[in-house]
Amino acid sequence: MISFLFKNSSLLIASLIAYFFTALSYNVHAQDIIPAPSEKSGSSELNIKLISNIYSKDKEFNTDIQVFNSYLKKMGFPILLIKESKANCVILEFDKKMKDEEYTFEISPANNIKIKGKSSGIFYGLMSLLQLRNTATISSYSSIHDYPAFQWRGMHLDVSRHYFPTDFIKKYIDLLALHKFNTFHWHLTDDQGWRIEIKKYPLLTTVGSKRHETIVDKNFEPYIGDGKPVEGFYTQDEIKDIVKYATDRHINVVPEIEMPGHAMAALAAYPQYSCNRTPLDVMTKWGVSDDVYCTKDSTFTFIKNILDEVMKLFPSKYIHIGGDEVPKTRWKRCEICQENIKKNNLKDEHELQSYFIKKIDTYVTSKGRSIIGWDEILEGGLAPNAAVMSWRGEEGGIEASKQKHHVVMSPGTHCYYDHYQGNRTTEPLAIGGFTPIEKVYSYDPIPEQLNQEQASYIMGAQANVWTEYIATPEHVEYMILPRMCALSEVLWTGKSKPGFEDFKIRLKYHFSFLDKWNVYYARSVYDITPSLKVNNGSLEVSLTSNYNDGNIYYALDGLSPDTSMTTYTKDAPILIDGSTTIKAQYFENGEPMGHEYSQDFIIHNGIGKTITSTPEPSKYYNKGGMPKLLDGIAGKTPRYSDEWLGWSGENPFILIDLGEDKLLNSLSLYTLQEENNWIYLPEKIDIEVGTTMKNFISAKTFSKMEIESNYKENSPLDMRFDNMILGRYIRILLKCAPKIPAGKPGQGENAWLFLSEISID
Ligand code: ACM
Ligand code: ZN
Repeated sequence: MISFLFKNSSLLIASLIAYFFTALSYNVHAQDIIPAPSEKSGSSELNIKLISNIYSKDKEFNTDIQVFNSYLKKMGFPILLIKESKANCVILEFDKKMKDEEYTFEISPANNIKIKGKSSGIFYGLMSLLQLRNTATISSYSSIHDYPAFQWRGMHLDVSRHYFPTDFIKKYIDLLALHKFNTFHWHLTDDQGWRIEIKKYPLLTTVGSKRHETIVDKNFEPYIGDGKPVEGFYTQDEIKDIVKYATDRHINVVPEIEMPGHAMAALAAYPQYSCNRTPLDVMTKWGVSDDVYCTKDSTFTFIKNILDEVMKLFPSKYIHIGGDEVPKTRWKRCEICQENIKKNNLKDEHELQSYFIKKIDTYVTSKGRSIIGWDEILEGGLAPNAAVMSWRGEEGGIEASKQKHHVVMSPGTHCYYDHYQGNRTTEPLAIGGFTPIEKVYSYDPIPEQLNQEQASYIMGAQANVWTEYIATPEHVEYMILPRMCALSEVLWTGKSKPGFEDFKIRLKYHFSFLDKWNVYYARSVYDITPSLKVNNGSLEVSLTSNYNDGNIYYALDGLSPDTSMTTYTKDAPILIDGSTTIKAQYFENGEPMGHEYSQDFIIHNGIGKTITSTPEPSKYYNKGGMPKLLDGIAGKTPRYSDEWLGWSGENPFILIDLGEDKLLNSLSLYTLQEENNWIYLPEKIDIEVGTTMKNFISAKTFSKMEIESNYKENSPLDMRFDNMILGRYIRILLKCAPKIPAGKPGQGENAWLFLSEISID
């Protein structure tokens, strides 16, 4: 099109300048790549769109070129012709001095690009070029020297809770490759479905890959199922094809075969390997099952035979054997398991679990591979050759690295992408948690307390994608993107990562890339973050967004905001002195971005007043402390922990000081009933009012029956006084429910009592 102009260099420069100013193109720098390159320098110019050829003397890069071209095609860009040319060419050069995965990217005369590295490095150089190709007309830098901070850059996917078709598995692998991940942890078996064909044990798939239905949302008690059968598994041929597909993209596939727990699908097919040997069903609800593999000899033969087939299919050094969440209930009552404890001089069932994993460790090691397991495999003693995947925080990983075992970090706090990434009221139902993209970006897989030698055992990190509440490919994409973009920078760029402020700008351009790949992604990064200042009797609400290119608009009349409504002015909080709802939305170029923010505020006599409790709420449920109960915001269900304060085993005695005498009519208490989570309504509420601390009189007593009959989810217990009472001090004594009765979740434990707001009128 304009290439005929480039006959001499002055014309070239003139044209580039003209092109730059007329096309309104964004002048892209190396920093536009995600993950950001480790080192970049210089400035020279290159018209990326003119690049039309790709060439290498080394045949071994042919697959890399093909994959790169397939990605260009997918994005609607012309593919590069594999031929040597003097101009507009990508030249790939093998450089044996470089480490695996390392590459350099240089602009050379006549609009050429030279990428040097070994095979995986060349591939990553091409992935960088692909991203530049999307956003850049003209790139103005001269070189990148790029290499990863961590060797294990992983993404996990649970295909047991929901089955995903092979095409989607490939798309998932493509997304990993694009972001320079090199490990796909494929969680193939669990209680709710066995998804890998094992020729020796056909029932694993004919029985174990099918469940008759799935629990609806979180309807555990009473249980509600959807009545729709779920099935699906990957044949060995499909697996070989996927492993090759991943290998071509420099991704190692780590298969996970869960043991000794999370094995209900296998035990439904082969109940003889359970302790009770009675028929079992593939589970239809989530959680942890008491039925696990029995430690009898025949179980080990069964598992070894399975692992033989698994190791044939997966060349991975590491084979994941699960090891998490193993109740000891059955083993405690099983003759064979108890006999095994005696025979092997084990102390208890924890050591029996360790005995189990050690046997598997010995077997897998004898085949020239290594096991990796969830951090529970530390309990009762770590198997000699095992690596540890730390998920219940980082403690397991820290302990394992001190014992000189290799570690992959995937703590729930930062690496669980089944968690919410934005406000619960606007995100799709998730298992819980809150892991917004900023938090992912802030992660450092090396804990501070490790010395250099211990730190060398941390291979890297990965995100886990458990799919209890994620049933479709689109939903998986929504949960991983853009959080995996942030994680890619944690793992690839490491300590040289430029920071979230820089990342979020690149992320905007990256979205246009994801659009071309036809993937879903969350736009929650555009959501508004509120902050609240509680004054005496009123509230000030500040709104911020991650981006400042547009404006926040808001409304107080319950309507959804558009650009004709009030513009929120930075540093000018909204004053709330009467109950209302704020609805707000961030807009760019007239378009709403992210989710609408909506919050009800209840203004009452107690706002911002002094409040204490004896005892204090449990340290686990005390975010913001007691003032939270007088901040005008009532907690909602599904429960978001930060909005609720909780007590367990002790009756809270609450004292409020209104600062002056008020005529009081009623008290509305926001409390909660969630038996599945051990949360019960109070048994009794006594309210007293006094003008001084010495003359309290009873204002209201609510009995168990009154509490139960007045309770409605998401509305308060309204306790109207028989007469108006003048007072400054309010005392509330709440009696917790007794220990949880038999047959309920958490039976025999203390019941929890939760409160989120006390509205005083
Ligand atoms: C796990 O999340 N149970 C490893
Ligand atoms: Zn047993």
